[in-house]
Formats: sequence, structure tokens, C-alpha cells
Amino acid sequence: MSDPRFVDRMNREHFGGTLPPGFLEGVRELPTERDDVKAFVDRMFRFMNAAEMRARDLSVLQGEILGSLLARILPGAWQGRVPPITVKGRHRKIDELIRDNRYLGRRPSGSMLDLGCGFPPETTIDSADRLEGWRIHGSDPSMPAFMVHDPEGAYATFDSRGKMIYCQPSAPTVESWNALLADPEETARRFRMIRERFGDASPGLTEGSDGSRLFVDPARSFERPGLTFGVGGIGQVETSEQDVVRCFNVMYYFDDDFREKALEWFASILAEGGILLVGGDWAFTTECRYFLYQREGGAMRPREFSFSLDNVVPLGLVPFFALHERDRGLNLLARLVRTLRRDAGFLARYYGVTDGLRAEHEICPRGADGFYGSVDPEMDPGELWSRAGEISDTIGSELGADAVAVLEGAGWDAGLNEIGLVSVSLESPPA
Ligand SMILES: C[S@@+](CC[C@H](N)C(=O)[O-])C[C@H]1O[C@@H](n2cnc3c(N)ncnc32)[C@H](O)[C@@H]1O
Repeated sequence: MSDPRFVDRMNREHFGGTLPPGFLEGVRELPTERDDVKAFVDRMFRFMNAAEMRARDLSVLQGEILGSLLARILPGAWQGRVPPITVKGRHRKIDELIRDNRYLGRRPSGSMLDLGCGFPPETTIDSADRLEGWRIHGSDPSMPAFMVHDPEGAYATFDSRGKMIYCQPSAPTVESWNALLADPEETARRFRMIRERFGDASPGLTEGSDGSRLFVDPARSFERPGLTFGVGGIGQVETSEQDVVRCFNVMYYFDDDFREKALEWFASILAEGGILLVGGDWAFTTECRYFLYQREGGAMRPREFSFSLDNVVPLGLVPFFALHERDRGLNLLARLVRTLRRDAGFLARYYGVTDGLRAEHEICPRGADGFYGSVDPEMDPGELWSRAGEISDTIGSELGADAVAVLEGAGWDAGLNEIGLVSVSLESPPA
């Protein structure tokens, strides 16, 4: 049962009670009985304040995402595990960056570890498609031992001990998610029963006459020359001499102490001169932020921090997604966005561009009440985030040089990087 007093208190404490009515309507069903959800919302609003985001920057869509989706992707909904959710095309620009960047040059071949690749490992497969001639390995601690689809198309993945890792409905409606997650034990039991009907199935796909399916060792089916998969997370993968390690949408979940130790381990598995890309994004390199480190003399040297400009007034909520106060990426992003927003001329131009694009693409346009809206509920999520990608690209191309000038004015060595994101050097940041 959602407690409206919690949202009301958050609204008063963080936004002086000015959150838009449409945003508040979206969070009506927030599961406030969960402490992790309440802590997350409190932290998210604090980061919004640190970035000096205003209540009127929040849309109806963001309220809906916060109210219906976010609680489900927090580890608290999965017995503490990080859900292996990923999206095809998510890191497509990052793949371009890997193919051609100022640190490694344009390499016809190389090796890359995609760590915490998720399942199905869509982003690793995307990388293999784009980085022809490279050896790509995807690894995840939650790589399933088997995967079961029910006749309706919902699925669940299990580890080698038969413990359910993750499940997902065939259509991602609130009702179908609630039906699966209301009683996870019961859901796991139901999928295990389907699995038992298949008996001792061999690796690969076996289909039942009722439409159910069993996939044993499913990651193998995605392998091909130059593309392999394994089980294991940070500190666990047996490898060395990697040219690139990408660890995306993973570090959101860990604090800075973990990150420090992880950096030491990353240094041990990279080739000298090799690079680490650690950060995250939502879809099609939108709402993106990441650090680039390079191994030098056996240690990780921080080179640059890059972000997409849609973070200034985002369509989604990933810019504020963090599970810990000491999230290095989010703290730096908030500082940079704050610098941009404090420049009144830049901010006015930003609203001019972004409001025009939202109206043109019919994505959260500003309504007559002055607040940002939502999207046509019939719009396919793929279409929604693809349009969001176009909006983000246009904001970057129209305002990138402007943003660089503002950051340089604040003492940063800034520029636009190989894929058009705003980048600041970490070699000599301003105090
Ligand atoms: C949100 S998914 C990201 C998947 C993919 N990298 C992407 O960007 O779409 C986060 C993944 O991190 C993995 N993970 C959790 N703990 C990890 C660790 N210690 N080392 C590496 N990956 C981890 C989870 O199993 C999960 O699949």
C-alpha cells in the first residue's frame, strides 16, 4: 500500500512542495512499504538538488517511470541481486568509441571484456557486430545455467544451483509484472515445474508442445568466432592483457570503496595502454556518463569523464540513478550539470532547443500549464527511446560547443569527444 505522506514529505523537503501535479500523479503507486525504495527516492531527489534541477524540469513520464518501473529494477526486488537487465543498441556509440579513439587509435583487431554484460547479452552481441576482427568476451556473475519460458512467453533464468535469478513477463505491463513479482517463490516454483517436464535436456533449446521452452546454457547459443561468454564478475574473471574493458550500468550499484578495489583489479587484467570504460547509459547512449581510465605503469590513470547533454534536463531518470551517496560518477555529473545550469544564457538556449525537440517528437512536450507531459501510451518503448536518442543527438550537436565553452570558463579542460559527448579532462580538474 503506497503511503502518500512519504511523497508529500519528499516534495516539501526537496522541492518546497512545488513538484508538478502530473509527476506526483505518476508516483501515486510507489511501493513506499519498501525501505530501499524510499531511500532511493530520497537520494535521487538530493542528487537532483545538487545538480540544481528544478521541480518544473520533471515530467509526467518521469513520475510514471518512478512510480511503476524503478522499484522493480532495484536489487531489493531481487533478493539483493542486481537484475541482469540490458537493452539492444544501448551502447552503440560506445562501440564506435572503442573502434576509434585517441588512446588506442583505430584498431582493426583487439580484445574487449564486457563485464556485467547482463542477459540476454544484447550489448555484447552489438559490440561483436560492430567491432569486426575483435575478440569479445561477455561475462556476468548472473549468467544463467538455464532459462525457462512459459507458454505465454514470460521467462525466468536460474543459476547452476537452481535458484531463480530473474524473471520477466511477456508484455511489460504493471499488471503482468505485479503478477510475477507478488510472490517470487511461487513464480520460481512454477517455472521450475515447467523445467522438470523437460527432464534431462541437453544444452541448447528444447521446445514443448504447449509453447513452453527450455534453454540449457543459453549464453553458448550466442557464441560465434570472436564472441564468447562466461560466468563471473569483477575480480572473478580469469583474463589478462585486455585492450578494452567495458563495465557499464554496473557501478551504479556499488559504493566508492568497492570501486577503488575494482580499479586495482581492472589494472591487473588490462594490457599496458589498454582502456577501461566505466559508467552507464539508458538507451542508444542517452543519459550517458562514464569515466575513461588508461593503464599506465601498471596502474589506472583517470583520463576523462564524458556525458551526454540530455542529462541537463533528462527525459528519463538514469542521470540520478545511484544506490550510494558516494557515487563518483553521479557526484561529478551533478557538479558539471550545476555549472552548466548556472549559466543563465546557456540554460535559456538549452530550454529553447529541448522544448522545441520535445514538441516536434511528441515526447514529454511542455503543456499549457508550463509542465512537461508524457508520451502516447500506445507508443512502443523501442520507438520512444529511439526518438529520445535523436533528441539527445540534436541537443549535443546544437549545444555541445556552447557547453564546452561554459565548462572551460569554469576552469575545466573540456571538449567534444569522438562520439560527440561533452568530455572533461581528469588530469587537472579545477578545485
Ligand atoms: C543493469 S545490468 C547491465 C547489463 C549491461 N552491462 C548493460 O549495460 O546493459 C547490471 C549487471 O551487473 C551485473 N553485476 C552485478 N554484480 C557484479 C559484479 N560484482 N561484477 C560484474 N557484474 C556485476 C549483474 O549481474 C547485471 O547483469
